[in-house]
Amino acid sequence: MFDAQDLYQEIVMDHNRRPRNFGSIADSTSSSEGFNPLCGDQVTVFLKVSDEIVEDVSFEGVGCAISKSSASMMTEGVKGKSVEEALIVFQAFRRMLTTTSDQVEDSEILGDLEILKGVSQYPTRIKCATLSWHTLQAALQGSGSDVSTE
Ligand code: FES
Repeated sequence: MFDAQDLYQEIVMDHNRRPRNFGSIADSTSSSEGFNPLCGDQVTVFLKVSDEIVEDVSFEGVGCAISKSSASMMTEGVKGKSVEEALIVFQAFRRMLTTTSDQVEDSEILGDLEILKGVSQYPTRIKCATLSWHTLQAALQGSGSDVSTE
């Protein structure tokens, strides 16, 4: 039988094996670095924003399957959105992973990202999934500052 857990694992593995939008953007308009000192994993998120629209987004770095998959899905989830919309997706994603309820309140905003709700069952992995997102937030806000999970 194929259930939500199988689907979750299948999608995480697929994005881990074939990460989307992996690499730098030569003409990026901003970037930010994120670091998880507990494991040493790091990610850099690149953005190309024009007229407040995220025209391109990519990432590179070293990370576990969940962090890489989450970053890969994140790029697909925010590309083409306005900066404001991308920040709303970030907030919905963080809310989904940090609330204990099985319900996902922001399904419409999250779309395919909802499959990563499964991560919230594993508190130690939540930072893996949110590392790239906090890094994205810093890049969207143009702070240029590095992000740490601790
Ligand atoms: Fe390092 Fe997941 S174990 S980010």
